[in-house]
Amino acid sequence: MTTRTGNAPAVLGGEPIRAEDYPAWPIWDDRERSYLVDTLDAGGWWQGDGLRAATFAADFAAYHSARHGLALTNGTHTLEAALAACDVGEGDQVIVPGITFIASASAVLAVNATPVLVDIDPDTLCIDPAAVEAAITPATKAVIAVHVAGAAADLDALTALCSAHGLRLIEDCAHAHGTFWRGRGVGSWGDFGSFSMQRSKLMTAGEGGVLICNDDELRDRAWSYADCGRQAGEWFYHHPNYGSNLRMTEWQGAVLAAQLERFPEQNERRNTAAVALGAALDQIEGVRPQRRDERMDSQGNYCYVFHYDAAAFAGMPLRQFEAALGAEGIPMGVSYPSLNELAIFRNANFGPRLRASAPTIDYATVRLPVAEHAAASTVWLQHRLLLADVEDVLDVARAVERIQEHASEIVINVNNTGGTT
Ligand SMILES: Cc1ncc(COP(=O)(O)O)c(C=O)c1O
Repeated sequence: MTTRTGNAPAVLGGEPIRAEDYPAWPIWDDRERSYLVDTLDAGGWWQGDGLRAATFAADFAAYHSARHGLALTNGTHTLEAALAACDVGEGDQVIVPGITFIASASAVLAVNATPVLVDIDPDTLCIDPAAVEAAITPATKAVIAVHVAGAAADLDALTALCSAHGLRLIEDCAHAHGTFWRGRGVGSWGDFGSFSMQRSKLMTAGEGGVLICNDDELRDRAWSYADCGRQAGEWFYHHPNYGSNLRMTEWQGAVLAAQLERFPEQNERRNTAAVALGAALDQIEGVRPQRRDERMDSQGNYCYVFHYDAAAFAGMPLRQFEAALGAEGIPMGVSYPSLNELAIFRNANFGPRLRASAPTIDYATVRLPVAEHAAASTVWLQHRLLLADVEDVLDVARAVERIQEHASEIVINVNNTGGTT
């Protein structure tokens, strides 16, 4: 529960709205411990003779409505394996949204194809299907749709568009464990769904990734790529294909099996909290929660995101607002920059990648106005706060209101003391 004394914002010396921190992340207990010890004692320490990682991936795939799940090293390699299985390579273009982690684009570079950066929907922050359609060329081979902060991209529009143009659809679900779209898990709608289990994610073993799909042949091709080019039914050293070693360890599988058992209850708790917080923030001028599409049954909130309009806060720059919110005890994240603003694209610094296919895109001239604006005007909060009691989660809205009430003082004070803007 909240303890509050006085009304001055913490950034001006008042007591923070939050006297206690929100729940820590990651969460684990004796289940992780016992599965790890079981794995140790069983001696099957790699996927070749262990069971944990493969079983976890199959269970996770079933939870997300898919037939197959591959347990891989991380959520960058899952994208790479998906692209390779879809035969994406030199000369091919892959359409990628502006707001995402670099892996959604660097995996395209890793298979020697060209990422084509497109703009996003201003409300959900996910790839804009109209922008995808406008970017299709004869070289387009695939679309990577990122479910940003767990909000599903418009899967109805994207599946229809990709099927009409003969394109592969890869769902980057690194933020979206537990997001369901019209009754089915995200990642099961496209050709592949790619999940990360890195430390900050909604289910984690520190590192890890799961690739889900429904098609048998695509599954076999992705697995071959991830298992050194081996092929099921062939001799161990036959290696008919190019591949690398992208296998998850059994230790990760043991931890993730326990994380999955705990996940549905956590997902429900986060959803209840996110809906309540959205309703509270909706009442405050100048902030607007990321849109929850009504076709989503649940959103796996990797972060809680809202739009911020400085005009309703005496012109307070975003970074100042974030600092003021952080001072109140709200666990802050930060938006990614739009991909076109990253140095690698600005400088075309691709190293040996794309040398042969010489990208025809001058990324320095690419503008993504919606994504660039979103990167500069959205607030990202860490998902761990959504596991608190709803009353505690509503402290976020109380903190925003308090900052708004004192916005002019904060702006003047920080400017006078040379604080960061
Ligand atoms: C949208 C997105 N895609 C891919 C990844 C890559 O996942 P990993 O860190 O497991 O390689 C991340 C990780 O943060 C991500 O946020």
